[in-house]
Amino acid sequence: MNAPLPEVLKQHLIDPEICIRCNTCEETCPVDAITHDSNNYVVDASKCNFCMACVPPCPTGSIDNWRTVLRLEAYSVEEQLTWNELPAEKALGLNVETLAEAAGPQVQESPLSDAVNGAQVPPWSASHPYVNLYTHKNPVTATVAGNYRVTDAGTDSDTHHIVLDFGNLPFPVLEGQSLGILPPGVDANGRPHHARQYSIASPRDGERPGYNNVSLTVKRVTADYQGRPVRGVASNYLCDLKKGDPVQVIGPFGATFLMPNHAGSHLVMICTGTGSAPMRAMTERRRRRRGQGESGKLMLFFGARTQQELPYFGPLMNLPKDFIDISFAFSRTPGLPKRYVQDAMRERAADLGKLLKDPNTCFYVCGLKGMEAGVLEVLRDVAVQHDIDWAPLHQQLKREGRLHLETY
Ligand code: A2P
Repeated sequence: MNAPLPEVLKQHLIDPEICIRCNTCEETCPVDAITHDSNNYVVDASKCNFCMACVPPCPTGSIDNWRTVLRLEAYSVEEQLTWNELPAEKALGLNVETLAEAAGPQVQESPLSDAVNGAQVPPWSASHPYVNLYTHKNPVTATVAGNYRVTDAGTDSDTHHIVLDFGNLPFPVLEGQSLGILPPGVDANGRPHHARQYSIASPRDGERPGYNNVSLTVKRVTADYQGRPVRGVASNYLCDLKKGDPVQVIGPFGATFLMPNHAGSHLVMICTGTGSAPMRAMTERRRRRRGQGESGKLMLFFGARTQQELPYFGPLMNLPKDFIDISFAFSRTPGLPKRYVQDAMRERAADLGKLLKDPNTCFYVCGLKGMEAGVLEVLRDVAVQHDIDWAPLHQQLKREGRLHLETY
């Protein structure tokens, strides 16, 4: 008689060398199996049910790592939190057939998880992105070509437009992609700082057309989410950079938050603060291509505390009204009621309803986490007002890569 087989597990792990700590996986996991500390993002083997919901949204692919282990010897959360790199595959002393039989078909087909509100695929006509050309082990050195403040000098919001030049090294990007910055120096534990992720604010042909450069929109972090004073490591480093300074960059990242390229495709862009970066990239792409076919509608909902704290306010005002339809929402203008992007969207329900019905419309949401639920609620209400059943439409928008959410 055969002895009972030891239970074998294909353990889900995150590669700490590639992970950019963007929190997407933790937010996506429907069973709260992913957690983190200041060092690593890790997967709890006792909770992970292999639903794969976290895999497509990960911008770097660091989430897609697996090790075959005996269940009793699975790597604990505590152990994973100390790692600087993934362990090598262990020899289990079982032959391959036994392992396959014991491990069984654990990994499920990736479902269209209801827990995920946004699309996990790009629009059908998006260009093909390059990802992970540069990693922690082989970053590229860019040079600062410019660093300008894009919010009024008299305000607390110190937001900068930073241009990075890659010289003659390739760094191909598409609008909606992001990159990672490796700040110099070490953290409180003496380890190199983790990479910080920033959306690219320039279109694919460069901040300056024909030059090999990209721009970022960076807000200097001086307080945490509770308003307590903190000094953001990467944002302060970036905002203080001078022209000519070298910067270590990894990436590019992101294969889904991409724009459609087909004629007559419409973009509805909803953002707050520095969430405007990918919207600026897409808008500028369309502006440069005006008259060349990609002539759908552009609608932008942009929220900030005040007009003075809204990045790029001046340049946005100069865009032709027949090119882009912009609604601002200011929440802290003295003497005026608080207004969020959701309020501005409700005012434009008639136009949004028409766009919701059009299969050529793609929706992009980027900015504060809190606005995600509010924006989805407005879209649902607008759908209902236009006799559209929201639940199937929401699924369709996700399936067709037409609703993209990037919130933090
Ligand atoms: P608030 O005045 O309530 O903070 P920030 O400057 O912090 O990046 O914020 C950008 C804008 O987003 C601000 O106007 C802020 O308003 C607004 N905001 C905050 N929470 C939400 C939310 N849940 N939905 C939409 N906008 C929000």
